Formats: sequence, C-alpha cells, structure tokens
Amino acid sequence: MKKSASRNMPWILVEDYKRGKGWVGAEQCEARARAYCELLERGQILFFREPPFDLPAADQQFLLEQQWSEMRMHKNVSYRPSEDLLRGVSGNRETVSRVHSIMRNYSAQVTEFLAKFLAPYAGKWNLDFASFRPLEEEGRDLPLHKRNDLLHFDAFPSRPTHGARILRVFTNLNPSKPRIWQSTEGFEVLARRYAGGAGLQDIAEDNSFLSRTVRDLGSKLNIGVIGRTPYDMFMIRFHDFLKENTAFQRDCPKTQLEFPPQATWIVFTDCVAHAVMSGQYAIEQTFLIPPKALVALESAPYRILGNIAGRALVS
Ligand code: SIN
Ligand code: FE
Repeated sequence: MKKSASRNMPWILVEDYKRGKGWVGAEQCEARARAYCELLERGQILFFREPPFDLPAADQQFLLEQQWSEMRMHKNVSYRPSEDLLRGVSGNRETVSRVHSIMRNYSAQVTEFLAKFLAPYAGKWNLDFASFRPLEEEGRDLPLHKRNDLLHFDAFPSRPTHGARILRVFTNLNPSKPRIWQSTEGFEVLARRYAGGAGLQDIAEDNSFLSRTVRDLGSKLNIGVIGRTPYDMFMIRFHDFLKENTAFQRDCPKTQLEFPPQATWIVFTDCVAHAVMSGQYAIEQTFLIPPKALVALESAPYRILGNIAGRALVS
C-alpha cells in the first residue's frame, strides 16, 4: 500500500489489485481486505488509476455522447439496484433503455468487485443507489443545501441509515479533465469543534423542536421518518450546518484532490468532508455498511458523536 499516487495526493494508491485477476501476489487476501476496510473506516481514500472492474469502453462512450442538457434530468441520473429502477432521465425509449442497461451492468460489476476487495463487508451491506453525473459541477446553480461545491459530510434525508456508514465508489469518466474535490480536517476534529453549535445535545436528548416536529409529522403521515434515529437527525443537521457556515467554508484548511480520467476512488463520505469544485461525467455506486460489518467501530460517526454527546445516538 502506497501513501500517494502523484504529487502527494492524500489518498492511498492501490496497485496490487487488477481487473479480472484480483490480488496480485497476495498470500493473505483476507488480511489485506480487512486492512483496506480499516483504512477506509478511519477516513482514508483508496485510489485506483483505472476502474478495477469491467466498465466497457462502448458503455462509457455512449454515456459521454448523449446531449444530457437537452434531456429532461434531475440533479443526476440515478439507478436503484434493488428495484432495477432508473430515474432522472427521459428521452427516446431506446436511449433510456440503453442507459438503464449500462447502469444495471455497472452496478453489478462494482458490487462483484467490492465483494472481493472489501470481503469483510460482502453480503452484509445494503446496496444503495448508483448515479451518473453528466453535468459540469463548476458553476452549477443549486439551492444551498444541495450545493456540491460546499464542504460537507454526506447524509441522506430520505434514507436514514441507523448508524450504517455511507461508502461510495466513484469513477471519473471524463476523457480529458480531472474531477476536482476539496477536503478538510477529519470527522472527529470537526465534530468536536462544531457538533455542539449544530445542536447535538438537543438531538441526543431528543427534545429539540426539530426532532419532535419531525417525529410527530412522521407518525401522522405514517412515513419512514419514524425510523430516524437521533444519529440520522444529527447528520442531516450537521450537513446543513456546515454548508450554511460561511466562515467555516471560507477559512478552514483545504486540501485539493484531483482525480484524473479513469481514476476510481473509494471513500466513506460520512467521515471525509468533501466538495466537488469541477468535473463532468462521474459514475458512482453507494453501499450502506451496517455497524455489524465494520472493522473499526470506534471510528464510526455514530460512535464518535455518541462519545461527544455522552449518550448513545443509535439504539
Ligand atoms: C458529493 O457527494 O457531494 C458529490 C461528489 C461528486 O459528485 O464528485
Ligand atoms: Fe456529498
């Protein structure tokens, strides 16, 4: 395992895993897979120079060729593997059907790869959405909380994780331009500095106006928010708090990450603060890793926040 790929990027370059062949010269695959899980859980990014799974050139070409700005689209094109459902794209039937099969195949290939590469998680995860991101990120006009160019930790308002961690695999499909991210200090440092101000204690004690309102509304409407733990509520609050905090966004120390064409990176985006500054055409699959599958449980955000709050945030 090498510390960086080029120009001292803050990621770990993975060179000993080859597409179609798996580990190269590895005697103890199990120990290696576990070591990579641990690095990820502690906030490292794993970097591959090219996709370590099959991503056919013809599929990539097809995605790059479409006139995405003319096709009616949501924030991204999304694919839900559990329902085999494609969302966020409309156009002629043939095109939509081809995009659907590309996303279905992409999702299956990433999943097959990850089941070997991060074997301790295999079969224990909840396979979340995949997405294709065809719009240029620089200068996108989005509402504040949806902006991707402001540093944040990921939390999904519609999908509480109950402490499960958000693991994402990205590939930059752009043929010539890097995808550029910024990052900053780690989760524990930022949580110790800002969680109090973001309202952790009130949410932990479950007596904030917000948590009461959300819970009451949830039970009235009989919708999934009932299943939201204080951890889920705080992570959404923290996501919004950091994006709203102009002094933090302006003054925090920043590290720039440049992911070149074909680069593939794996990261727990619930503990690595990130903002995408520029780039077009990325494809991504998300996995939710439940606490029982984690190898460094003490690094899980729900544990760190529970320690700060002095009480458990997930029952
Ligand atoms: C994000 O999760 O904030 C977006 C990352 C990206 O699209 O590169
Ligand atoms: Fe994000």
